[in-house]
Amino acid sequence: MRPAGPPAEFPGGRALFRLDPAVSHLNHGSFGAVPVPVQEAQAALREEAHADPDAFFVGAPDRIAAARARVARHLGADPDGIAFIANATEGANLALDAVPFADGDEILVTDHGYGTVVAAAARRAPITTVSLDPDLPDEDAVRETVLAGLTPRTRAVVLDHISSPTARLIASPRLLAELAARGITTLVDGAHAPGMIAEPLAGAADFWFGNLHKWGYAPSGSAVLAVAPEHRGRVRALVPSWEDAHGFPRSVENRATADYTGWLAAPEGLDLLDRLDAAKVRAHNAALAAHGAALLAEIPGLSPLPHTEGLAMRALRLPPGTAETQPQASALRERIAAELGIRVLIWGWPGGGGIRICGQIYNRPEEYERLAAALPAYL
Ligand SMILES: Cc1ncc(COP(=O)(O)O)c(C=O)c1O
Repeated sequence: MRPAGPPAEFPGGRALFRLDPAVSHLNHGSFGAVPVPVQEAQAALREEAHADPDAFFVGAPDRIAAARARVARHLGADPDGIAFIANATEGANLALDAVPFADGDEILVTDHGYGTVVAAAARRAPITTVSLDPDLPDEDAVRETVLAGLTPRTRAVVLDHISSPTARLIASPRLLAELAARGITTLVDGAHAPGMIAEPLAGAADFWFGNLHKWGYAPSGSAVLAVAPEHRGRVRALVPSWEDAHGFPRSVENRATADYTGWLAAPEGLDLLDRLDAAKVRAHNAALAAHGAALLAEIPGLSPLPHTEGLAMRALRLPPGTAETQPQASALRERIAAELGIRVLIWGWPGGGGIRICGQIYNRPEEYERLAAALPAYL
């Protein structure tokens, strides 16, 4: 069924970004985009660092702690229970390093998991991969399929909070609770959660990591690792630092003479989200994504996938034979970008891949209409 209609343009939304106007950016989920006020805040911090490096670096730990407290407030987290990190991939490695695996232990992952995160798990212990049919109808079916994949050796489970290809909720609070009740350590890849969902930490996973630089309007390289109290003592920086003696979170955050300006400007992104009204932004973005998905669903051969209400990303399956492998998917994505000037995610999947579109306050309904009109020629 077509929704009532596309949402009206978000007032001032487009002007907040410096995106190339010749391109339709319908792929906010992959790399985010940094709003101008956040770019300016980061540029001012860089100027400060270049003007007096000694003062900047000596004062950095306290400023990072203050920025962390702001992020904790946004996430509803204990400020001592989160650390700034560079990205979700780093979060996966830090978290997995802190789980004491014994010989014979296994890690359960799903075939929706993000490649670098699954690779991090496979480095740590043998993995078992649960197949989640993209067409699984609802959250209950996802939960039951994951639970059915457990083996007596499963020590830890790594789940997407919101899956990258299929843009749906996987690590539901109920699934996490059922895993915890079985004594299994839960690690959640919340790459897309901050800014896109209201309470990213509601599931109380043992370890949760999420990017602020996707939907939280923060500069690239701004992410968070949240750790339940009982595990914090085992989290070690991947590279030893001068702050090791302080333990989590400072030991994880100190990277010697690194560029900390992204983390320090991250609160600016969250403040902007608040000023715009985060609930309004979320509703707008979800409505745009739904509008785009409804238009694409009219293309013969495209089938909408079950989705989680309120998310700013939607996925549809492409016709059988299209994008069956990742290289084919990447080639199609780049053709669409080069020939149409439209950025979308095309994901590879055996039997036929899919397309994921996003909604963000800089997008306009016409951009999805242009995609829907042009896409059939590529299928
Ligand atoms: C579900 C998921 N996990 C992890 C990542 C990787 O994020 P990063 O490159 O910030 O490590 C992504 C990136 O899109 C993702 O979608």
